[in-house]
Amino acid sequence: MAVPPRYPLALCPTPILKLDRLSRQLGVELYLKRDDLTGLLESGNKVRKLEFLVGEAAAEGADTLISCGTLQSNCCRAVSAVAARLGMRAVLAVKGGKPATYDGNLLLDRLLGADIRYLSDAEFERVDEALDGLAEEVRQRGGRPYVIPESGSNEVGALGYLECAVELAGQIGQGAPRFDSVVITAFSGGSQAGLLMGKQLAGLPSDVVGVPIAFPAARVRDSIVRTMVKAITRFGLAIEVPKTIHLLDGYQGRGRAAVGDEELRVIAKLAAEEGVVLDPVYTAKAFAGLMDTLRKDPRALGQRVCFIHTGGIFSLFPFRESLSRLLDGEPSRHS
Ligand SMILES: Cc1ncc(COP(=O)(O)O)c(C=O)c1O
Repeated sequence: MAVPPRYPLALCPTPILKLDRLSRQLGVELYLKRDDLTGLLESGNKVRKLEFLVGEAAAEGADTLISCGTLQSNCCRAVSAVAARLGMRAVLAVKGGKPATYDGNLLLDRLLGADIRYLSDAEFERVDEALDGLAEEVRQRGGRPYVIPESGSNEVGALGYLECAVELAGQIGQGAPRFDSVVITAFSGGSQAGLLMGKQLAGLPSDVVGVPIAFPAARVRDSIVRTMVKAITRFGLAIEVPKTIHLLDGYQGRGRAAVGDEELRVIAKLAAEEGVVLDPVYTAKAFAGLMDTLRKDPRALGQRVCFIHTGGIFSLFPFRESLSRLLDGEPSRHS
């Protein structure tokens, strides 16, 4: 089957910048690929995945995008923004109760006109059933649904990061540093799966390294392999699943939902020293893992390391209280 058409949504190629002060502190050349700048509302790694997911939705004649995630899901916000931009409807199944006041990504989802359904933890355990139910509801009303899985993570979404690897290889070909390692946050591992595919197709010379921020490394590895096998089988890609998939394990902390002072400190450090803001749930945890790895062994990932900043800035705002305390040097209430 052919690869779905790519619907142009992301602002790319995204810039690559050197983190000068951090590079000196860590004894490596550390760079950021600014995938947080792929857009404003339709941004981060999600919009690269959506170029192919929405391409497939449009090819099928869909008029409603259905997706799911946490209350502060970056994927749900990007889906809401893209749906509004394209004149489609967005229906979202989110995990959690309706808050008295909207904040961060959820506030944007509502502003962007998404239809939000709040699911209990138990209901979210069976989110695939909930998504099927929402699709049926749309059909009953005469609409044409297209379902996007959590984090946009399937073989179609992964094509967005296949293209990111192609983009990066092109940037290296045009004078960007020849990175020894490219490091990316791994929740489902869908983005890393895409990079691993693009690496082979485009001859990207760098090792592709993921930092799992929620699930055990073995689960992330399985999910990456499954996604690659599906893509290879479905789209007939002339690539192989690599024998080893490089993950920096041990940085999941207390899981995805829990954000501790360590992540908030990393956000504050990078913001004050380099003028870049990470998100608390995904990139701060992964970046903390990268810094810890390099502090223990500055050569662990080679001399030139590029971290892909996958966005998520809006989920910073619901952490305003813990961040305020941290910035003012007051004791934390949760550690
Ligand atoms: C900001 C951000 N970075 C990284 C990820 C992880 O992406 P993946 O599920 O492809 O591993 C997510 C996914 O939810 C995210 O929102």
